[in-house]
Amino acid sequence: MKIQLATKPLTDITTQLLVLPVFQGEKAKYQDPTVTDFLNTQPQFGKLYENQLIYTPKQKFLLLGFGKKDNLNFEKLQNLSGTAVKQSLQGYKSISLYIPTLDNFDAKTVGEAIVLGAEIASYDPAKDYKTSYTQPVLTQVEIVVDKADRGYQEGFKIGTIMAESINLARKLGDMPPNEMTPTYFLNTAKKIAKDTKLKITIIDEKTAKKKGMGAFTGVAQGSEEPSYIIALEYRGDLKSKEIWGFIGKGVTFDTGGISIKPSSKMEEMKYDMSGAGSVLGTMLSIAKLRPKVNVVAVMAVTENLPGGKAQRPGDIVRSYCGKTAEVINTDAEGRLVLIDALAYAQKDLKATKLVDLATLTGAVIVALGDFYTGAFGNNREFTQRLIEAGASVGEKIWELPLSEEYNKMIQSEFADMTNVGHGGSMPSAAGAITGAKFIEQAVLDNRPWVHLDIAATAWDLKSKPYQTAGATGVGIKTLIKLIS
Ligand code: BES
Ligand code: ZN
Ligand code: ZN
Repeated sequence: MKIQLATKPLTDITTQLLVLPVFQGEKAKYQDPTVTDFLNTQPQFGKLYENQLIYTPKQKFLLLGFGKKDNLNFEKLQNLSGTAVKQSLQGYKSISLYIPTLDNFDAKTVGEAIVLGAEIASYDPAKDYKTSYTQPVLTQVEIVVDKADRGYQEGFKIGTIMAESINLARKLGDMPPNEMTPTYFLNTAKKIAKDTKLKITIIDEKTAKKKGMGAFTGVAQGSEEPSYIIALEYRGDLKSKEIWGFIGKGVTFDTGGISIKPSSKMEEMKYDMSGAGSVLGTMLSIAKLRPKVNVVAVMAVTENLPGGKAQRPGDIVRSYCGKTAEVINTDAEGRLVLIDALAYAQKDLKATKLVDLATLTGAVIVALGDFYTGAFGNNREFTQRLIEAGASVGEKIWELPLSEEYNKMIQSEFADMTNVGHGGSMPSAAGAITGAKFIEQAVLDNRPWVHLDIAATAWDLKSKPYQTAGATGVGIKTLIKLIS
């Protein structure tokens, strides 16, 4: 899809559809009499994402509700652009979207949001799988603005790069688990490393075992598919000792292992690699944007299957972080693979500030519902910085507590810790927190660390006017903003 910027009168549009914003409670002034008539008879029109096609002999219009002007933010702008594009994919070869000058938005931010929305809307997970799939006809999107500003083009560039990363992460999450295996994930990472000149290190199961990554290999041993810890390195600031470390849970399918999950909705557990998918996407963006920072990424990629060699409840595993863990429930596998990946990021790659992303617990969905990512950290300021980075690009994150009271909930009689929380007033008490507590045990010398539980936000159950259902690629925008 080609996205271009134009500054011209709306009467000079030559594309097949002109999308016009209508703010709720404001009288929009557009020259076409049919549009004017419609808006006069429908003074209530303008609710967010509400839309109306109007055909005149000269031009087709899509009136698009932008909601209340004061409520407009990055996320809504992105989704409005997405709505315009998603509505048009099958019906028009070319469209124009008019974006008036907006108070409180600079041109770069507008450009970024618009391109993100457009590219994300044009992704379809069924593309390679439905034999009846028809390619969208829309190939050209023209963004019409009031006055030229170089910021728009700058925003377009960043938005295009981030959208490519987000759509890649979505594709990996949406792909069926028989195809999107750890090996497929590895090959994707290899290709990115080659194309963008990132350094890649691949630790296979044999090497992981030798290195002492028993928490990771304990999970991996239940599956016939080869598993990997994959590291990518980007050096943008050779003078600095600061190194960001992004760590992702990459369970390409989570059956629960021997503590097997109920079969209802188990198919969704293909998105249990979304943390690693978002980390990979972030590295792709970083490699293309080339910011002046150092970043390493570690992705722990495996299936969690109940094969003949699978680990048992009761097993005690030795982690590369130096601690032992008693496996009470083999379905709490994410935290196991993460502690080894986290230890590798610190001990071998010298990461100084850590963020891990994981579809870790159902409990975070119970706590926060579908809209917020749960955040847990050991450093208030650092966590806050990350939350604000997310808010600026419409990724909602809410901090949950991680104070020392919770330590006793992962104490083990036989090892350093249990992989499931216990001792609360109900069995599942503080499930998301005890998961985070476990991961915290692998943070060395108390360096700044945030764990993001994306179990709810990495997956959309319902299609939206601006984006299909399925994997979301959550976290990529936040991490890019965080390091920028
Ligand atoms: N991958 C799941 C968490 C999950 C649940 C992600 C729902 C997305 C949607 C994770 O590995 C898991 O099974 N966690 C268990 C932990 C429990 C055994 C302590 C859970 O949440 O039930
Ligand atoms: Zn699990
Ligand atoms: Zn899992």
